[in-house]
Amino acid sequence: MSLEGLEVVVLAAGKGVRMRSAKPKVLHTVCGRTLLDRVIRAAAALKPRKISVVVGHGREDVESELAALRGRLGFAADALTSVLQEQQLGTGHAVQVALPEVSQAKHILILPGDVPLLTAGCLEKLVSLYKAGQQNGVSFLSFEPPVVSGFGRVVRDARGQVQAVVEEKDASAEQREIAEVNASIYLVSAGFLAHALRSMSSDNAQGEYYLTDIVAKGVSEKVDVQAILSDDYRDVTGANSRGELSCLESIQRGRIAARLMAEGVYLEDPMTTYIEDDVQIGIDTSIGAGVHIKGNSVIGANVTIEPACHITDSRIANGCAVKYASVLEDAQLASSCQIGPFARLRPGTELGDGVRIGNFVETKKSVFGAGAKANHLSYVGDAQVGRNVNIGAGTITCNYDGVSKFKTELDDGVFIGS
Ligand code: UD1
Ligand code: CA
Repeated sequence: MSLEGLEVVVLAAGKGVRMRSAKPKVLHTVCGRTLLDRVIRAAAALKPRKISVVVGHGREDVESELAALRGRLGFAADALTSVLQEQQLGTGHAVQVALPEVSQAKHILILPGDVPLLTAGCLEKLVSLYKAGQQNGVSFLSFEPPVVSGFGRVVRDARGQVQAVVEEKDASAEQREIAEVNASIYLVSAGFLAHALRSMSSDNAQGEYYLTDIVAKGVSEKVDVQAILSDDYRDVTGANSRGELSCLESIQRGRIAARLMAEGVYLEDPMTTYIEDDVQIGIDTSIGAGVHIKGNSVIGANVTIEPACHITDSRIANGCAVKYASVLEDAQLASSCQIGPFARLRPGTELGDGVRIGNFVETKKSVFGAGAKANHLSYVGDAQVGRNVNIGAGTITCNYDGVSKFKTELDDGVFIGS
């Protein structure tokens, strides 16, 4: 669902003190993607004209992640920008600093940079609510977390109309009992937002400029103010500490596992299987406990991956078997190969159909023709190995004489003894 004239502001200037890290909070990862990457992907699904990220703490590092994201997600330089908030004077101040960056917008979506499980569906719900209303005020997402402490409470009147968001430190004992809290995800009319931020004050318990004040401001000015509960509180939960981060990581891992199983992949023990979002796996493939599959790995159908294997950025075609505790990085396997146990395939390994690489064999930058075998205790590096070659136990291909590097070539059918 799209909204004409929509632009996005992502708040990512805070340090994330409770993470106790030298790294800015939004650069911590969940299943291999930074928090910022995940938030920007969710926002991008709404096809906004522009996304502007408010940076402050660890600015250089956040900006280099943004540069990487432009490449990864295909944003033009002016469609994903950053704006500096030198001092973090509060969420309202952060948005105020960003306003010149989104001066062409009619509607502004505001997101915190630390909600990694945010889905496009969640944001679409917010857009629907906003579109159904007057589009002259503010709509925002609320949620009911298992523990409400620390969040701004959503105060409603007897008819259920939103009146204000009150931060915990400013809340009365009665308000603290409210179960519905602010997710800090807002869709606001650009005109109202600029107007409301102009009269912000920091006269509150924390001495900060609160973005949440735009809610009561909208109510007092009789513009359209609405809040809607998220279907799943986890979608809008932020990661403030290492504990929260690992909880969100395990939720995302569970979501990836559920999707793969629905698609016909068998995971022996989803709780201990670590598969990143971009990995593709074909049907009837079976994955053992403790397996990690990362990056852009593509695994075919009818593949068996035994426990404790680590696979990164590799392609494994149909019918292969990767046995216990093998490590593959940037390797390409044609169909029906048998690898391991305890094999290590390093970058640039390319195996033809039916190749067998056995225990304690390491390969690097080597191409094996169909049917070739290296079954025991070998190092094969910088080699061109022909079809049906047999490399006996304990063979090493040396490529370096201290000055130059050489390639080893073994023609089709060559037999190397032990
Ligand atoms: C905010 C909301 C609260 C809501 C909660 C949800 C306010 C005043 N309160 O509280 O109602 O329940 O989020 O998690 O908005 N940031 C900046 N610059 C700043 C301050 C913050 O960029 O000057 C960024 C932070 O990096 C973070 C986000 O804004 O990504 C939220 O800030 P945070 O301080 O975590 O707000 P909360 O106190 O959690
Ligand atoms: Ca927070």
